[in-house]
Amino acid sequence: MSDIAPPLAGVIGFPIAHSKSPVLHGYWLRELGIQGYYVPLQMSQAEFVGGLRSLPKLGFKGVNITLPHKIPALGLADSVTDRAALIGAANTLTFKDDGSIRADNTDGYGFIQNLRQNAPDWDARKGPALVLGAGGASRAIVSALLSEGVTELRLTNRTRGRAEMLADQFGAKVQVVDWNRASDAMDGAMTIVNTTSLGMEGQPALPVVLDAAPKDTLVTDIVYTPLLTDFLAAAQARGLKTVDGLGMLLHQGVPGFENWFGARPEVTDGLRNAVLGL
Ligand code: ATR
Repeated sequence: MSDIAPPLAGVIGFPIAHSKSPVLHGYWLRELGIQGYYVPLQMSQAEFVGGLRSLPKLGFKGVNITLPHKIPALGLADSVTDRAALIGAANTLTFKDDGSIRADNTDGYGFIQNLRQNAPDWDARKGPALVLGAGGASRAIVSALLSEGVTELRLTNRTRGRAEMLADQFGAKVQVVDWNRASDAMDGAMTIVNTTSLGMEGQPALPVVLDAAPKDTLVTDIVYTPLLTDFLAAAQARGLKTVDGLGMLLHQGVPGFENWFGARPEVTDGLRNAVLGL
C-alpha cells in the first residue's frame, strides 16, 4: 500500500450540478489510468475565498473555476498568465508546491484548438472576423482571435456599451458594429462567432441572417445545447463550414488536466460521446 495520496482536482461554481467538467476529466483519468479524482465543488461567493484556500492542504492540485467566481479567482491568485490578465478572468487555477496559486484562462485556447481540430484549413489571418456578443466568453475569444493574427474584428452586442468597452481595451483592430447591423457585418467576414447565449435551449434564436456571409467563411457557436443551434443549421443550409461549441469546452480542459495530473489528454470522439452522455 502506497501512502501517497491520489491527486485531486475539481470545478468550483454556484450552482455546479450541471457542470460537464467532472465527466470530461473523469474520462481522461480513466483513459490514462491515473489514480486521481475530479469533483464538483459548490461554493457560494461568501464561501469561495476560504473554500479555495483550504483545497491545497486537502490534496488538490488545482481547480477549474466557473460562474460566478471567474473574476474573483483572478484577483486571489499569486501569479497570473498573460492571457488570463488580458481576459480579466480565470477558469483554471493550479496550486504550486510552495502553496501559491497560479491563474490561467484557457477559454480562448479551447476556442482556437476546437477550430484547428475541426476546420484544419481555418486561419484567422484569412480575413475579418465577426464576433456576436461582448460578455465573458467574448472577451476570451476576441483576445484569442487577435493573438491568432486577425487584422479586423467586428464586434456587435445588444448592449453597445459593452462592445465599446472591449474595443477600448483591445485596440483599433476591434470595430464596434450596431446590433441591428449584425447581418450586414457578415459581408467579407471569414470567421463568424456567436458568443451570446442566444440559441441555447429555452432561449430565442439569434436574430441574424447569413445572406451576406462569404461562401468560404467559417461559422461557429459557443452554445452546445443543442449541438446544432439554429444559427449553425442556417449556416449549413447555405453550404457554409460550421464547427459546434462542444469542442471548446473539451479543449479548454486540456491545460489544467496536464498541470494537475501530469499527462496531456486528448480530445477524441470517445470523449465527445462521453460528455454528451452517449
Ligand atoms: P458569458 O460569460 O457566457 O459571455 P455574459 O457575460 O452574461 O455571459 O454575456 C452574455 C452575452 O449574451 C452578452 O453579449 C449578452 O448581451 P448583453 O451584453 O446585451 O446583455 C448576450 N445576450 C444574452 N441574452 C440576449 C438577448 N436576448 N439578446 C441579445 N443578446 C443577448
